[in-house]
Amino acid sequence: MPEAILEVSGLVKHYPLTRGILFKKQIGAVKAVDGVDFHLGRGETLGIVGESGCGKSTVAKMLVNLEKPTAGTIKYYGEDITRLTGKALKAVRRNIQMVFQDPYTSLNPRMTVGDIIGEPYEIHPEVAPKGERRRRVQDLLDVVGLNPEYINRYPHQFSGGQRQRIGIARGLALRPEIIVADEPVSALDVSVQAQVINLMDRLQGEFDLSYVFIAHDLSIVRHISDRVGVMYLGRIVETGKDAEIYDHPTHPYTQALLSAVPVPDPEAREHRERIILTGDVPSPANIPSGCRFRTRCWKAQERCTLEVPLLAVPAEFRLTEGPAAHDSACHFAEEKQVVPPEEPPDDHGGGVK
Ligand SMILES: Nc1ncnc2c1ncn2[C@@H]1O[C@H](COP(=O)(O)OP(=O)(O)OP(=O)(O)O)[C@@H](O)[C@H]1O
Ligand code: SF4
Ligand SMILES: [Mg+2]
Repeated sequence: MPEAILEVSGLVKHYPLTRGILFKKQIGAVKAVDGVDFHLGRGETLGIVGESGCGKSTVAKMLVNLEKPTAGTIKYYGEDITRLTGKALKAVRRNIQMVFQDPYTSLNPRMTVGDIIGEPYEIHPEVAPKGERRRRVQDLLDVVGLNPEYINRYPHQFSGGQRQRIGIARGLALRPEIIVADEPVSALDVSVQAQVINLMDRLQGEFDLSYVFIAHDLSIVRHISDRVGVMYLGRIVETGKDAEIYDHPTHPYTQALLSAVPVPDPEAREHRERIILTGDVPSPANIPSGCRFRTRCWKAQERCTLEVPLLAVPAEFRLTEGPAAHDSACHFAEEKQVVPPEEPPDDHGGGVK
């Protein structure tokens, strides 16, 4: 396992629900993130996947210090950054940058591309002296596949894919070690998604980056992730290496998500089983007892109401060395191949062109 650059333990974000105007009384909490653990190795990509509202963006915001956790730790090279303030915090923030979901709204329409990409230098002038910034921004435009002469243009003069390239260039400006990409391709056309993912894959090698890559669809993260964490209602319910999750999922929720993934081969598509989940995702202000997935799980039994399943290698797989022996928070974890295994790619990132 590569050296851990980030270690997240017991991460929680609860937003209080209050009643009353003058005398506010807390009547509950929106448990947006409710105990998340993961690690990120240096140079690795961790994909985080889950339906809308499961807490992905809240995790991302805590990683880049846009939100303060209610509880838990985020260790960067072993140091808990949730406790840092002042200069020490600023230095760490420089190394953990975010790329946002919507390239249409995340770029200021009144700023030129040069000012957008170079803005982080205003906060960290030590990275690039004033006289050098224009050249640095032009280099960054070139690195993300845009013409350096576009430096004086405005965001509306670019397509969605090009705008996301601008967002990525801005994320790279301070030469961070970690990029937290919150659904960076979800707002883009399918054909453009692959181009942006390939760009991020290439930049990872060139800039020695570690990625936390968030998506709501398992098929999007497949080609870029080394490991994947599947989130449901504020928690990671299954996590493992890419092949363990895609070819040997053991948690019913992951199996349901995988059954909705597009399969290119028509014959394989005909034979795969679709698992349609019934019922809505419960409110994060009212999380079910025991297993939080039980209200939608076709395998739920009484034990699932009473006991919270822990995220660990299930007992039945503990003695095996096989790919099903990865963490899964289910009392009745069973291996199930939902999508046919893919041909091995020619190289890393192959398959998405
Ligand atoms: N500031 C806030 N105050 C109260 N509740 C919030 C706040 N921010 C987020 N939430 C709630 O927390 C839950 C998780 O939100 P979050 O944005 O992290 O989900 P997400 O997985 O990123 O969803 P999406 O796929 O739609 O982006 C949601 O129910 C959301 O309504
Ligand atoms: S613990 Fe029970 S309810 Fe939860 S996923 Fe497993 S079988 Fe389903
Ligand atoms: Mg989100």
